[in-house]
Amino acid sequence: MRKPLIAGNWKMYKTINEATKLVGGLKKELVDFNGVDIILLPAFTALYYVFQAIADSNIQLGAQNLHWEKEGAFTGEISPIMLKDCGCEYVIVGHSERRKYFGETDEVVNKKTKTALNVGLMPIVCIGETLEEREADKTMGVIEAQLSGAFKDFTADEIQGIVVAYEPVWAIGTGKNATPDQAQEVHKFIRGWISSHFSGEIAQELRILYGGSVKPNNIKELMQEQDIDGALVGGASLDVLSFSQIVKGAIAEKK
Ligand code: PGA
Repeated sequence: MRKPLIAGNWKMYKTINEATKLVGGLKKELVDFNGVDIILLPAFTALYYVFQAIADSNIQLGAQNLHWEKEGAFTGEISPIMLKDCGCEYVIVGHSERRKYFGETDEVVNKKTKTALNVGLMPIVCIGETLEEREADKTMGVIEAQLSGAFKDFTADEIQGIVVAYEPVWAIGTGKNATPDQAQEVHKFIRGWISSHFSGEIAQELRILYGGSVKPNNIKELMQEQDIDGALVGGASLDVLSFSQIVKGAIAEKK
């Protein structure tokens, strides 16, 4: 059985003060709620404060990005060792906003994912097609290319330490979520790809999150799908009530 995982990607929102307030509210709402892995992904500046605020709770910490080197002359970058130092256990790699606005390629995603694993951070590797690609019927081809790029030269052992997030670009921040059927189709394809390139056992254990306009009112039906194991939540993770409702809604009977 794969344990559901709900991750809140705060993007470039929340000062330290706002971040610690949000955590305070979430801790109250989600105290003793252990059926779901809960991860918060604040901006770098709030990481250590959030780490301190979640110390006595069931909430875990992650970052939104990392550099692929452990240290060096890379002005303005953050090393994976520094993320560990702040208490991070997870890190997002290859979010579509990084690919679109900061030119991250599959090759960069591959290097960052490897480095994250090397230092003991669990990567949440994001993939997903644009609207243009979906309309041209290229979705599975794009997903396959992103998977082969991200996991080039990976061993079965390495793959066991990762989480994949399927985030159709057209559904991010648009209020237009993929239907459960559309998401399930791609999740199943991803699991199949992992099974044929690594092993059936690894594929069965791999957690695949859906991301793109996840809200309290659509989490349940998404989670009912066989291959949807959780969600990467953007906008709705910035509010105590909506994020905690999503976490609670993640426990759903599979179809
Ligand atoms: P959204 O963002 O929930 O605001 O659509 C999801 C994401 O970018 O991870």
